[in-house]
Amino acid sequence: SSSEVYTASTTAPVNIAVIKYWGKRDPKLNLPTNSSLSVTLAQSDLRTHTTASCSPSYPPQDSLLLNGSEQDVSGPRTQACFRELRALRKQLEDANPELPKLSSLPLKIVSENNFPTAAGLASSAAGFAALVRAIANLYELPSSPTDLSRIARQGSGSACRSLFGGYVGWEQGSAADGSDSVAFQVAPASHWPQMRALILVVSAAKKGVSSTTGMQTTVATSSLFPARANETVPRRMKEMISAIENRDFEAFGKLTMMDSNSFHATCLDTYPPIFYLNDVSRAAIKVVEAINKKAGRIVAAYTFDAGPNAVVYYLEEREKEVAGLFKAVLGEKDGWQGERGERVQRDAEGL
Ligand code: PMV
Repeated sequence: SSSEVYTASTTAPVNIAVIKYWGKRDPKLNLPTNSSLSVTLAQSDLRTHTTASCSPSYPPQDSLLLNGSEQDVSGPRTQACFRELRALRKQLEDANPELPKLSSLPLKIVSENNFPTAAGLASSAAGFAALVRAIANLYELPSSPTDLSRIARQGSGSACRSLFGGYVGWEQGSAADGSDSVAFQVAPASHWPQMRALILVVSAAKKGVSSTTGMQTTVATSSLFPARANETVPRRMKEMISAIENRDFEAFGKLTMMDSNSFHATCLDTYPPIFYLNDVSRAAIKVVEAINKKAGRIVAAYTFDAGPNAVVYYLEEREKEVAGLFKAVLGEKDGWQGERGERVQRDAEGL
């Protein structure tokens, strides 16, 4: 009937890269200059919950509500996701005339993050992954996670990795249309279930330079960038996949820290320079170095995205040394406890 509402819900978790995506060879399709690799956090940790619905009774414009506030859906990223998903639904409807014609109905998307959206915690990754999967479920598309990663990538590059759990790669691909630029699972979370991620919210402020602008300027101006994209990252991708396969934390940790440093070095080498790390970020690096020095080996590894917040990876058996020391340094903790680690939320004064 004309008032019928069709609906589907899903959740998608945040992922935190250990080999960073930084650089676009095609900004429209979000095709990267290098492959990347991340760990998807547990569903109980940071995640976006999204409900997609459509109805002939809705106002004619598509809409997206995030944490209760209306978002602009007219941008090319969101439009690309809507367009691709509608085209797939249309194919199904053309092949099965008895199916309701959902592809021509306005969409209403309602999303909630269970973490501060402004905190620069890869919220766009979970957001676009959840949006794409919710609409695919609504449309009852037979798409695989790989197919959905190809669509979510056009929303936000890093979002393609949140379609898989555990340890996830994003193959840069070489096709001009992006057909081979998709995410793949390196190993499920159960392969190395002891992995933990501690998230230090150094600043809840929105990032100063957006990842898109930052990437474009780095690619255009950094003299360190070609070596990173063409030599360093391809080598480390292979080493990282082996480290994960062998559950070798020392190798995993060292590669994670060195790749974060390499990424932020190309940011500093950008002109004008981009500074994502601040004094508190550098203090967090010092704490990790002190922990590793005391242990006599790498038991904790920091990484930073396009902002000052630290993510520290460690194994459960090192909980006391790692989370314990951070808590001691930070004082009374204020955060969440999740399956995949304990996240400590503090203000900049904390360290
Ligand atoms: O997906 P975007 O455009 O928000 O870019 C994410 C870039 C980094 O978070 C810095 C690295 C990564 O691989 O997630």
